[in-house]
Amino acid sequence: MDGIESKTLAQIVIAEPEAAAVFEKYALDFCCKGKQTLTDACAAAELDIKKVVRDLDAAAKKVDKNHPPEHFEKMELDALVNHLLQHHHTYMKRSMPIIHGHLQKIAGVHGERHPELIEIAGLFDQMQMDLEQHLLKEEEVLFPYVKKLVQAKHESDHHHFNKTHFIANPISVMMNEHERAGELMDMIHEKSGGFDLPEDACATYKAAYHELEVFEKDLHLHVHLENNILFPKAKALENVLFLVS
Ligand SMILES: [Fe+2]
Ligand SMILES: [Fe+2]
Repeated sequence: MDGIESKTLAQIVIAEPEAAAVFEKYALDFCCKGKQTLTDACAAAELDIKKVVRDLDAAAKKVDKNHPPEHFEKMELDALVNHLLQHHHTYMKRSMPIIHGHLQKIAGVHGERHPELIEIAGLFDQMQMDLEQHLLKEEEVLFPYVKKLVQAKHESDHHHFNKTHFIANPISVMMNEHERAGELMDMIHEKSGGFDLPEDACATYKAAYHELEVFEKDLHLHVHLENNILFPKAKALENVLFLVS
């Protein structure tokens, strides 16, 4: 990508979804802090930008032309909502109780030798409680409203949306909650030393750290799709319907 250094992390991942894995590798936050440019993000993290750009180029070259990654910014918003529900919401609801159980178990068995496990289990509990409420709000309020916006666009039925701009408020609440979940996930990452297993880790310990690593990646992608694609596009669509009504 030309001039990639001045693009934001969100713009890069939107255009080249495979960039997400590179940003994960360098712990560059492309979801909640996606508005920072690659230059600024690398400077803040004291990373050699040339090295990151080389990795981004290499990732782009590795993309299988026959099976390119999905470009979510091209999706209709109702299809994007369905994707979020089917993949990320379903995954979170299924995985959180499993990870919770594994963390409780290893905190009990290994907590004395590895006290960080007790803290990690507590942080995960907090994140799980917050996210369960968060998913419910999206599923019951925000997502149905986005689907209504899409329907109104197709049916040229704008009269439901001519009174007020509704969406800005729930979106800002959701973005604050994303930030909180991201902070808790960062703390878990830090306390675990980047999911670094000690010599005496048992099978459950290994499973829990692997599950947390997968969960972290999924959370980042989930928040990226909402913060950087769904929310701005839904706001813009509401605005268009508002203006023409
Ligand atoms: Fe979500
Ligand atoms: Fe969300």
